[in-house]
Amino acid sequence: MTITLGFDIYGTLIDPYGVTTKLAEYTGQSAEFARIWRDKQLEYTFKRGLMRRYENFAVCTRHALDYTDSLLNTALDDGAKQALMETYRVLPAFEDVAGSLQVSKDAGFRLFGFSNGLQSAVEGLLENAGISDYFEGVVSVDDVQTFKPNPDVYHHFIKTTGAEPGNAWLVSSNPFDVQGAINIGMKAAWLQRSHNVIFDPWGIEPTIRIKSLAELPELIS
Ligand code: LAC
Repeated sequence: MTITLGFDIYGTLIDPYGVTTKLAEYTGQSAEFARIWRDKQLEYTFKRGLMRRYENFAVCTRHALDYTDSLLNTALDDGAKQALMETYRVLPAFEDVAGSLQVSKDAGFRLFGFSNGLQSAVEGLLENAGISDYFEGVVSVDDVQTFKPNPDVYHHFIKTTGAEPGNAWLVSSNPFDVQGAINIGMKAAWLQRSHNVIFDPWGIEPTIRIKSLAELPELIS
C-alpha cells in the first residue's frame, strides 16, 4: 500500500518567523512581536474550534496581529498591517524542505500539504517557495470549518486523499498537530525545529522524532 505524507505548513515547511524582517521595518521589538503574533494566532484557532465560531485562518492571523499591536503599543496603521499580512502570503521555506521532498517523492510516497491555512494561501506559499510540484494537492481544514487538532480535520485528510490511516503520516513541528493525528490512528513524525519546543507530556507520543526533514524519508515505512 502506498504511503501518504501530509505535511503541516506553518512552522514545518514554511517559516512563520520569516515575517520578522518586515516587522523590523515597523517596530523595534520584532522578535517578541512575531512570537506573540504566532502564539495568539494558534490560540485563536483553538478557541474558535472549541466555541464553534469558525473564521478562517487569515482572519485568526489578522485578529492576532491586531491583538499584538495593541499589547505592545506599536501603533501600526492599516497600511502596515496589510503589508504584514501580504508578507504572510510569501513566507520562505526552511532550508531542509526541498531536498527532503525530492527524496520522499523519489521513494514513491504521495505528498500533500495539510494545513489550518486556506487552500489558496497554502498553494500560493508552496508556489512562491518553488516546491509546489512535489505535491499531489493541498488539504485545508477550511473544508470542515474547524481547526487542528479536532479529529474531524484528520479524518477529512484521510478521506480526501484516499489514504488508509495506518499508511498515512502527518509530518509536523507542532506538537498539538502530531497529537491530533496520533489520536485518530495516523502515524506522525514530530519535527523538533528548536530546542525551545518540547513535546507535551500527555502520553500521546509521535511515531518518530526528527530534528531535520532530511532524516524523514529513510525512517518512513
Ligand atoms: C498549519 C498550522 C498548524 O499549517 O501551522 O496547519
